[in-house]
Amino acid sequence: MDIEQIGKDALEEIKSAQTLEALDSVRVRYLGRKGLITNFLKELASLPAEERKTKGRQANLVKTELSTHFETRKARLETEQESASSQTQFDLTLPGRKSWLGNAHPITKVLQEIVEILVGMGFEEKLGPEIETEFYNYTALNFPEDHPARDQIACFYLDDKHLLRSHTSPVQIRVMEKEKPPIRIIAPGRVYRPDAFDASHSPVFYQVEGLYVDENVTLAELKGTLEVFCRRMFGEQVKVRFSPSYFPFTEPSAEVAISCVICEGAGCKTCKNTGWLEILGAGMVHPAVFENVGYDSEKYSGFAFGMGVERVAMIKYRIDDIRLFYENDIRFIKQF
Ligand code: PHE
Repeated sequence: MDIEQIGKDALEEIKSAQTLEALDSVRVRYLGRKGLITNFLKELASLPAEERKTKGRQANLVKTELSTHFETRKARLETEQESASSQTQFDLTLPGRKSWLGNAHPITKVLQEIVEILVGMGFEEKLGPEIETEFYNYTALNFPEDHPARDQIACFYLDDKHLLRSHTSPVQIRVMEKEKPPIRIIAPGRVYRPDAFDASHSPVFYQVEGLYVDENVTLAELKGTLEVFCRRMFGEQVKVRFSPSYFPFTEPSAEVAISCVICEGAGCKTCKNTGWLEILGAGMVHPAVFENVGYDSEKYSGFAFGMGVERVAMIKYRIDDIRLFYENDIRFIKQF
């Protein structure tokens, strides 16, 4: 038998073996203990020395070559088998997994809505730093030194010069220092207060400040502006109430409330049976504040207001615990 022919036949069979089992029987038939090549090598023993040598070398070459082909084919069949079996692990009748669509945090949404309404009314958005000085947070806003009014809007001190702003009103000062009237700005942002963390207080929350300064700005314009804002925010049916209040940087000052959106004035838990929900502090800019930024308080007048964003969101979405906003529980957040 011709060793070359055996080699060729074996190679054909290796190539056409479709399974690992089939391949293994080819291996046994050629390279096994009683295989064709093994037998061929055994039969060499009876040949004359010279012939034994050449044929022996030839046979060994064929043998190594075939072994390589076996290994390659084996690896190939193994990967094929593996991917076939992992495919059968998919149950194509199973329903697909629902993909998650993210959404904005309720505070972000309400903040955007507030800004959109006010920008639509002609206010321009301005930002100020969260780390402030006593000057901007208090002094320039006409809070007397060592006066209890500073406790009304208490703050966290970082060192003797710096503090975390406790309201967005410092942005009023920063804008007026840089620009001349007419000024029509809103300033949204985070503020910090050493308050208890309970259902209605958080040591960090959001405010939106508003400031309008020009010649002949009146209290009637403040009322009109906030009434329009409240109706756009909470619905045309809401009533808006101004009652006297105190802030060192406004005179007169007002506390602004809307008729309770839950009981519509009849009295409920949310409005503590008053029929009203307070949402804003406001007033006419105090002449001393104008003097502090170098404006002529005889020539200019203006109004300012500030609102708590969480409070607005709680009223709008009927949320009774402010802490829900900061827990980032996906079951809460994804409802908005
Ligand atoms: N800064 C005040 C506060 O945080 C709110 C306010 C702003 C009041 C502007 C009047 C005018 O309570």
